[in-house]
Amino acid sequence: MDENDRNYSNGEITVRWQPAKCIHSTICYSKLRKVFDPGKRPWVNMQGASTNEIIDIVNQCPTDALTFTKDKNIQGKEVKAEVEKNEDPSAKIQIIENGPALISGNFIITDINGNKLAKANNIALCRCGKSSSMPFCDGTHNTIGFKENRE
Ligand code: FES
Repeated sequence: MDENDRNYSNGEITVRWQPAKCIHSTICYSKLRKVFDPGKRPWVNMQGASTNEIIDIVNQCPTDALTFTKDKNIQGKEVKAEVEKNEDPSAKIQIIENGPALISGNFIITDINGNKLAKANNIALCRCGKSSSMPFCDGTHNTIGFKENRE
């Protein structure tokens, strides 16, 4: 766990935020501002929505910067995960406009020499060329006004 990682619990689930993985897709706060509000501290309010609503949004995080675990101290109460990730074993690639290429699935990524960089289920590859964590996106595309050439 990175020292900047944060955990937020509502007693049913604990949401983990790993800022190093965040590419600022805005999905969380544009879809569920009652819970995810970057203008507030703490920016995650676990009382702002139902557990299932929170799980639904967390599962839409493209890079797993947001994940959740069921709290272990709950006995007999089922927390329904309406959207399960990684049901499809094949890899999928989604190009984000003016942003990274999101790859999800079961895959291994190697460098130019064939050395394994990561075995992962969700990564974001930089397309702007400015990331300080190449080949991965670090969110820099948001600060440089990256506009891809669509001609
Ligand atoms: S695409 Fe995100 S840093 Fe380059």
